[in-house]
Amino acid sequence: MSDEQTGGKSHMSDAAIRIEGLRKTYRGGKGQPEKHALKGIDLTVPRGSVFGLLGPNGAGKSTLINILAGLVVKSAGSVSIWGFDQDQHPRQSRAAIGVMPQELNLDPFFTPRGALEVQAGLYGVPKSQRRSDEILELVGLSDKAEAYARTLSGGMRRRLLLAKALVHHPKILVLDEPTAGVDIELRQMLWTNVRKLNEQGMTIILTTHYLEEAQEMCDEIAIINHGEKIAQDSTANLLGRMDSRTMVIVPDNPVTKLPATEGVEAALRDDGSLVLQYQGNQTSAEQVLEAVRAVGIRIRDVRTEEADLEDVFLALTSSRAEEPADDQDQPRRGMHRVKL
Ligand SMILES: Nc1ncnc2c1ncn2[C@@H]1O[C@H](COP(=O)(O)OP(=O)(O)OP(=O)(O)O)[C@@H](O)[C@H]1O
Ligand SMILES: [Mg+2]
Repeated sequence: MSDEQTGGKSHMSDAAIRIEGLRKTYRGGKGQPEKHALKGIDLTVPRGSVFGLLGPNGAGKSTLINILAGLVVKSAGSVSIWGFDQDQHPRQSRAAIGVMPQELNLDPFFTPRGALEVQAGLYGVPKSQRRSDEILELVGLSDKAEAYARTLSGGMRRRLLLAKALVHHPKILVLDEPTAGVDIELRQMLWTNVRKLNEQGMTIILTTHYLEEAQEMCDEIAIINHGEKIAQDSTANLLGRMDSRTMVIVPDNPVTKLPATEGVEAALRDDGSLVLQYQGNQTSAEQVLEAVRAVGIRIRDVRTEEADLEDVFLALTSSRAEEPADDQDQPRRGMHRVKL
């Protein structure tokens, strides 16, 4: 690690990002009320982490990320990036962060190599320190280096956005929905790169609606809903909060009567298996099995299913789901979608 990365100075924040009391109110359009997109968020992202920012559509994730990127002006609060206050040290704080935005905002008349050179110029990266070819190689765009951006496919444009976020060697890489609508190959490329960059010391912040991905990739997760942070913890602790257990029993004989015992919720799945839900701290597996046998069910097979991030997410966000989602995109098969 470099001196800069380890910080060390007492006045330096040891966090990659420190946000306090962050508010954003968008002015309403014609006849529209103003929108409180962020309602006073405190958030600390540890250096070196892969940090997940999760929340339903319209929660305020992109607003927060775009404030970090300097694309949206905050209404109140403070943001410090790698120890540099965004208002007092705009240049240093901007240099510390690279953002891959959710929107595909590329100039159609630049080639990938051209776009990277322009970006490097904007960030004042000296010619000797530019490594456009290396970055194009990293994102798998070497063979498209001289193609016009408008001729690139959607997936290739996403690769180029990632490349652009990397040109100034940022300490922090922010990815807003990097895998929305991309194919398996690109998704794997993204996550392989993210892991590699993180191993080299880069702090990663990402949003995704694919909770399996967040669960797999992130050390720590914050969940925001309606502009407020409703949870922040290590992924392991978040999962550990869920004490609900699910036991799935494959019966040997058709189930004619569901087991009924306090604290156990029983249901039949279409495939004939019996699903039993209970709280691990209130009911033992033995009590569940007894209840099953008591109604004459013989057990051919039994397995348990662990709570996953989707359960945590739904438990935390569903209580205040009265506001409609602002936009929807297509769910993909086999991946968990956030439902409202
Ligand atoms: N430029 C804008 N003007 C007015 N309202 C906006 C603007 N941008 C976002 N909003 C509103 O602010 C809220 C938060 O939007 P934001 O894009 O931050 O959500 P998000 O969590 O990124 O959602 P998604 O998961 O759909 O990307 C939404 O209600 C949205 O309609
Ligand atoms: Mg968004």
